Amino acid sequence: MTYQIIDHEYDVIVVGAGGAGLRASLGMSEAGLKTACITKVFPTRSHTVAAQGGISAALNNTGDADDWRYHFYDTVKGSDWLGDQDAIEYMCKNAIDAVVELEHMGVPFSRDENGNIYQRQFGGHTIDHGKSMAKRACAAADRTGHAILHTLYQQCLRYNTEFFIEYFTLDLIMDENGICRGVIAWCLDDGTIHRFRSHIVVLATGGHGRTFFTCTGAHTCTGDGNAMVLRAGLPLADMEFIQFHPTGIYGAGCLISEAVRGEGGYLTNSLGERFMEKYAPNAKDLASRDVVSRAIAIEIKEGRGCGPNKDQAYLHLEHLDPKIIAERLPGISETARVFAGVDTSKEPIPVQPTVHYNMGGIPTNYHGEVTKNSNETVVPGLMAVGEAACVSVHGANRLGTNSLLDLVVFGKAAALRAKEVVVPGTAHPQIDETITQEIMDRFHKTRFANGKLTTGKIRNQMQHIMQNHCGVFRTQKIMDLGKEKLNECAQTLNDLQVNDHSLIWNTDLVEALELQNLMLQAIVTINSAAYRTESRGGHARDDFPERDDQNWLAHTLAWYNGTSVSFDKRPVHMYTLTNEVELVPLQKRTY
Ligand code: FUM
Repeated sequence: MTYQIIDHEYDVIVVGAGGAGLRASLGMSEAGLKTACITKVFPTRSHTVAAQGGISAALNNTGDADDWRYHFYDTVKGSDWLGDQDAIEYMCKNAIDAVVELEHMGVPFSRDENGNIYQRQFGGHTIDHGKSMAKRACAAADRTGHAILHTLYQQCLRYNTEFFIEYFTLDLIMDENGICRGVIAWCLDDGTIHRFRSHIVVLATGGHGRTFFTCTGAHTCTGDGNAMVLRAGLPLADMEFIQFHPTGIYGAGCLISEAVRGEGGYLTNSLGERFMEKYAPNAKDLASRDVVSRAIAIEIKEGRGCGPNKDQAYLHLEHLDPKIIAERLPGISETARVFAGVDTSKEPIPVQPTVHYNMGGIPTNYHGEVTKNSNETVVPGLMAVGEAACVSVHGANRLGTNSLLDLVVFGKAAALRAKEVVVPGTAHPQIDETITQEIMDRFHKTRFANGKLTTGKIRNQMQHIMQNHCGVFRTQKIMDLGKEKLNECAQTLNDLQVNDHSLIWNTDLVEALELQNLMLQAIVTINSAAYRTESRGGHARDDFPERDDQNWLAHTLAWYNGTSVSFDKRPVHMYTLTNEVELVPLQKRTY
């Protein structure tokens, strides 16, 4: 079947309207580039809206002698030395200006008694290389992402970014020379199909938390851009590194911000012990997330879990001043009441480690340009930013509040690069029609899939396999079994059933396309995890419990050809961009 295609031409296309997509769109529009932002949800419903505790920057508003170089050190250590130190330097050094810029754009940050931006403690953020905890997280109560997202959207409108809202992007248009020439998207509202040509496509499509059963991410977190990259024959990087947030609400998965512990909350086991003192004697409950999540998992495994099934921990904030909760953590109390039935002034919140963030993703340099091999050759016309990208500033484990920072710093960096390489209004080359046809053939086949299994059934199976075989602790045996089960599960996509064949607001079809995207990433994730035979940051293997810098001080690059996953390694950047900061040499990581 041939679909009628509506053509558009832009200098730049940004796919995704979360914090990274909007910051990139804003910078590009401001630079005079004709910019369109395509998004499957209304911009202010993007998942950045759910970010709670803060955005990191060494503003030093509390007079604790914070410095961006401490931030740099903490981020390298937090990444378990897998983060690229040049990119980390770029992010931490630009953090202060980025936050001040947001303030000037109108982000309604909370204020301290002097009227400055309020800053709180967060896990792994320290002064003087671990000597004391830093107050570095700049917060708008516990709704920081919400505040930033709304402000960025308003700024994009101010600079005339053109929005294509509730358009589902199907695939990248890659020409025969491997140059990205645009995207094809489906307008959910009226069913029309659109071809967007552009000199640069920026993928800002977020993470793929929904490959797992319990996750703090929205149902829209299906990593669509990552899947487009795999289908284009390009690699994803470090996909084995999944962050489990220690305090997702038990059962529901909703995020309870680390800000709770930053404001004085703490965890206990079934014996009422503050068990983090054992695992991280200095930082305790404010150790980095991988450490706290593993501690909870060990407490549960050793029989000291709370609740009727002994499979949760308790997060206490009953002792905190109700005024602090009302002012600084209003969203948390509401979430705990609605999703756990808990009054936080009287009882603890039942929590469990819950999938929260993908450190891996589309490999890029610190300008946001996508790279395609271990030599970091740039893919012309293609950029990625935000959680979709792997710059890599988070390495094997991300510090809380570095995500919002990553979005705005690298969103802006991509805009700066685009301004350098695109001359506004340059003509677009012809596109071979067969490329569009191939994309539409896949769409059409899915639309009329007439097998026996619903999307929900296959997705549920995939999510359980990932949860049970690629969790907080991993072994070769568990993952190999998971790989087998996942391959069988992926085969069942051939028996997919899509009941609604219409083109207008067809959520059955949207979910089927998202499931195809998720499945590719689940396969690459579990294979990458089985490939990396060491423990580092969020990747903890019982059978290889130590970090192995001899063999694994490297990023994983993974390609998937539809049948098997192949790998290469790319060395970590153990160098900085300037001599303003000292490289952090390899050390044992303790908190
Ligand atoms: O716990 C939180 O508020 C999450 C923050 C983050 O992931 O950066």
